[in-house]
Amino acid sequence: MIPKFPLSRRHFVLLGLSGLAGAIAVKAGTAHMNYQVQALYNPKRDFKVVGQAALKQRAAAKGIIYGAAVEPEFFQSNTGFQASFVRDCGMIVPENALKWHELRPAPDKFNFARADWLAEFARTHGMLFRGHTLVWNHALPGWFKEFVNRQNAEKILIEHITAVCKHYAGRMHSWDVVNEAIEPEVGRSDGLQNSPWLDFLGSDYIELAFQVAAEADPKAMLVYNDAGLEYDIPKHAAKRIATLKLLERLKKRGVPIHGLGIQSHLMAHESAFNPKKLRAFLSDVASLGLKILVTELDVIDKQLPADPTVRDRMVASKYEDYLSVVLDEKAVIAVLTWGLSDRYTWLSSFNPRSDGQPVRPLPLDSNLKRKLAWNAMARAFDQAPKR
Ligand code: XIL
Repeated sequence: MIPKFPLSRRHFVLLGLSGLAGAIAVKAGTAHMNYQVQALYNPKRDFKVVGQAALKQRAAAKGIIYGAAVEPEFFQSNTGFQASFVRDCGMIVPENALKWHELRPAPDKFNFARADWLAEFARTHGMLFRGHTLVWNHALPGWFKEFVNRQNAEKILIEHITAVCKHYAGRMHSWDVVNEAIEPEVGRSDGLQNSPWLDFLGSDYIELAFQVAAEADPKAMLVYNDAGLEYDIPKHAAKRIATLKLLERLKKRGVPIHGLGIQSHLMAHESAFNPKKLRAFLSDVASLGLKILVTELDVIDKQLPADPTVRDRMVASKYEDYLSVVLDEKAVIAVLTWGLSDRYTWLSSFNPRSDGQPVRPLPLDSNLKRKLAWNAMARAFDQAPKR
């Protein structure tokens, strides 16, 4: 029996498979790892794919968009990467170029140069373009703290959203209007995260942001985007509850919100994945009439064994186990990975390995070769029901 989802040592014992777990661990050189990580390794798991189609084609065959986040410089300095990206991706997300600190060098200035370059690249290559992000408590420019206060915050927020949405109006598939506004650990009854916007404008800043975005670009799909929703751990369970509450409140009040983005920075070492609970959450979101987008998928491999063959197998398992559950929900219309190649990933600096080995969280390796994670994604798209 090949376990479909990562099993803990307790599960192995219950299933009478403890001998198998031990054998696998020794063979993979994983004896020193914790049991959750060991259980993720299955040398026999099949990652075969049928045919030659690229990821965007396999996704499109099911009515799903596949794309990735990128910085313009990755394309400008690497034509091989450009070619790989164009082959596999149907959508571009600027990884940083649309954040406040990039767009707003000074209170009275906008600099669209880097994001415009990507928008143009998307247009000339027939790809969709999506915006990340209009309102966030991070990535604010240096002048923000000095300049923004209770008196001018509303005007500044409205001006920013209006200018940026109008600049791309008609060209933007969707916007992450508000990013990471929920953090139940803060302890507020509405579950909201600390933010200068919350301090200055109160909890209605979220509603205001969606309304202003809808006026400035009536065609874009408007999305609330957040992290930490995926696992069966108390922190994520609380986040799911608070997110649903927020979405229900916004819908009830007629706020123009069209989708939920689930970031999906998966943790390879976290085994508490409960397909039933995740499915229930996605279905609750869908029943509010919202679409769902996987917006920032990658797999954090910092606690996996160093051996790239073993590690790639484990990362691929995470991709397929996760996507096969998520794509079962027909409200899920897009999958975006946070980067395409291991050469360019934020995890190199945000979640490096303690052994100094390069991280391997994405579908292509640093030489743009397909990894098992690519196969895993292809398989998940191939098996997904049609939208
Ligand atoms: C990250 C970028 O990838 C990094 O290059 C940057 O230094 C920090 O931000 N959640 C988000 C993204 O919503 O905007 C973050 O992107 C990753 C986590």
